[in-house]
Amino acid sequence: MGLGAEASSVIKVIQYDITDLDVDAVVNAANTTLLGGGGVDGAIHRAAGPELLEACRKLGGCPTGEARITPGFRLKARWVIHSVGPVWRDGAHGEPQLLESCYRSAFVLAKEAKARSIAFPCISTGVYRYPRQEAARIALKVMYDHNGNFRSIVACCFDAENAAIYRKLLAPSPLSGDDA
Ligand code: APR
Repeated sequence: MGLGAEASSVIKVIQYDITDLDVDAVVNAANTTLLGGGGVDGAIHRAAGPELLEACRKLGGCPTGEARITPGFRLKARWVIHSVGPVWRDGAHGEPQLLESCYRSAFVLAKEAKARSIAFPCISTGVYRYPRQEAARIALKVMYDHNGNFRSIVACCFDAENAAIYRKLLAPSPLSGDDA
């Protein structure tokens, strides 16, 4: 499914450490406590410093499918948007809707904060075991819906498998007549 040239001008796929990105907002794959964890959550908290946890403590948690925003503190990014993705069970317990919702919620907060650039990790595809291909399809669908509101939307993959999946989904498909 190629998303077309106009989408790929705003949406970028990279394989990189999201904590090092100089964007207005980085999205964190958080849990409902917002009190940190492993994976990208741990990396963001380590890089942002202890003030991030202090700010998160005041938020009182976040339900799955929703997001909360804090400053980025020691990160290059001005904001951290903590988005809580679903734990994968079998796809029949609302996981697709919850994953879509956590991307949409992050974009709402980014727009309110007047962020012009935003980077997402591959939410729920690590500890939460969401199948990468399906998660990428949902993520890119929501990114495509917002590509007119941002200068840059970055799918910041960490592993090569996710990067390859995103790149394949974003590439213009020859059948659609998109230019190469
Ligand atoms: N930069 C970008 N992406 C990263 C980084 C990083 N520094 N570190 C890990 N990732 C990637 C993982 O490779 C995976 O593709 O982030 C994606 C999400 O994986 P997790 O961090 O495990 O998050 P998730 O699957 O959403 O599970 C959330 O894990 O860390 C805990 O507190 C978190 O309980 C929550 C759960």
